[in-house]
Amino acid sequence: MHPQTFLDLPLSRDPDAAPLQRQLHARLKTSILGGALPAGSSLPGSRALAATLGIARNTVSAVYEQLAVEGYVIARRQGTQVAPRLHGDQKPATAPAPMLARRVAQFARPLLMHKPAALRPGEPALPQFPLAAWRRAMDVGYQGNTAALGYGDPAGEPALRAAIARYLAVARGVRCSAEQIIITEGAQEALGLCVLLLTNPGDAAWVEDPGYRGIKAAMQAGDLRMLPMRVDGHGLAATLDDWSRDMPRLVYTTPAHQYPLGPVLPVARRLQLIEAARAHGAWLIEDDYDSEFRHAGEPIAAMQGLAGDGPVLYVGTFSKTMFPALRLGFLVLPAALLAAVQAPLAAMLRGGHRHEQLAMAHFIDSGQYARHLGRMRRLYRARQQALREALASHFDVPHTVDGGHCGMHLTVRLPPAFPDQMIAAAAHAYGMAVSPLSGFSLAPTEEDNGLVIGYGNTAPELYGSLLGRLAKLARQAKPG
Ligand SMILES: Cc1ncc(COP(=O)(O)O)c(C=O)c1O
Repeated sequence: MHPQTFLDLPLSRDPDAAPLQRQLHARLKTSILGGALPAGSSLPGSRALAATLGIARNTVSAVYEQLAVEGYVIARRQGTQVAPRLHGDQKPATAPAPMLARRVAQFARPLLMHKPAALRPGEPALPQFPLAAWRRAMDVGYQGNTAALGYGDPAGEPALRAAIARYLAVARGVRCSAEQIIITEGAQEALGLCVLLLTNPGDAAWVEDPGYRGIKAAMQAGDLRMLPMRVDGHGLAATLDDWSRDMPRLVYTTPAHQYPLGPVLPVARRLQLIEAARAHGAWLIEDDYDSEFRHAGEPIAAMQGLAGDGPVLYVGTFSKTMFPALRLGFLVLPAALLAAVQAPLAAMLRGGHRHEQLAMAHFIDSGQYARHLGRMRRLYRARQQALREALASHFDVPHTVDGGHCGMHLTVRLPPAFPDQMIAAAAHAYGMAVSPLSGFSLAPTEEDNGLVIGYGNTAPELYGSLLGRLAKLARQAKPG
């Protein structure tokens, strides 16, 4: 038995259509998989089907042979039959609800980074990026270089690692050799590697609270027990008591510019952290994400430089200084870890995006990176000032401003009567991607109510009207 109706349908003779043999093969395969031709049913004889469809018998025979080779049908003496136990002949089961692993099912909310929006924290001035110069650097990276089409050093291109080591020594006071540098897919991969290399599931880890969401995602994925540590006007405020209470394996901190509140971690706290980590066998992650853009006073040197061969893993990124889609970051490992991590890193990393890495090395070595940073520093300094002025003149709800001496965002605190989540949600509808401050806390208090406002990628001419609108939305969100 075979359902005459659909096998009878003429094949397409349109000159653009697939060859007849391929059409017939696709039709039979779909019918078998879909259950229209159930397991064990007989296909029509090749002569009969060829006559019905007006095609050569050889064509039908070739299709039957192909289906037999693929296991859809079995050629028997009495004719060709659909093979038994294909899934199409079983009762369709209701698909179980997809179950995600617990560690990722808890991820808070989608970040929707890809939608263009004003005032987004952390986004650099994309229209001002020197695209033509970068294209030339990419040309240098590619030029005749077919060797770099192959797998590279898992730690990244030696030329880029050397360029970064030189740059970090001068600009950030980081002490390392090129061998200690691992090129990563942005800071995010570097943070994930720290978790993967140095912790076991269930280990305790400290995060700044409020703090960067990216590290929380990495720690959650590693099944760590995250402990929120308060941030005061001087950054991470851990005491020696905290160290004895629940010993962390990993401590995440942003010493040069606490994210998102902005303070600089003073040297006494840095030294205390390094000493305590040494004493307790813990590791410190120093995330130095936007310290190139210091707007007041001298640059703040990295904590890594204070530690000698201490327990500091330094994380950097080109997402802010170049552009986020470049997805280039780096991890500086303590020299003492190098031998131990070599095998796992070689197993986990493949060494790709080699031409981009070579282009980046050229961009740094030719001085273009430093020039670009200088231009951007001036631009962000002016934008930061303009945003402060617009806040004073157009954001007429009670607020205080935190940070702002570095980077590309300001944090505005609001009284609890102005709920930040509601204001941010309403602002999104007006194309503003301001972030609610409470969203950066694992245990938000009344103080963690406010808005993180980015000025990197929004032109200053817009600040007045955007902040005027934001103030209106804040008043509307206030109950009563
Ligand atoms: C604190 C912090 N670290 C790191 C990053 C950079 O992440 P990535 O290099 O993965 O783009 C950001 C970006 O917003 C950040 O705010």
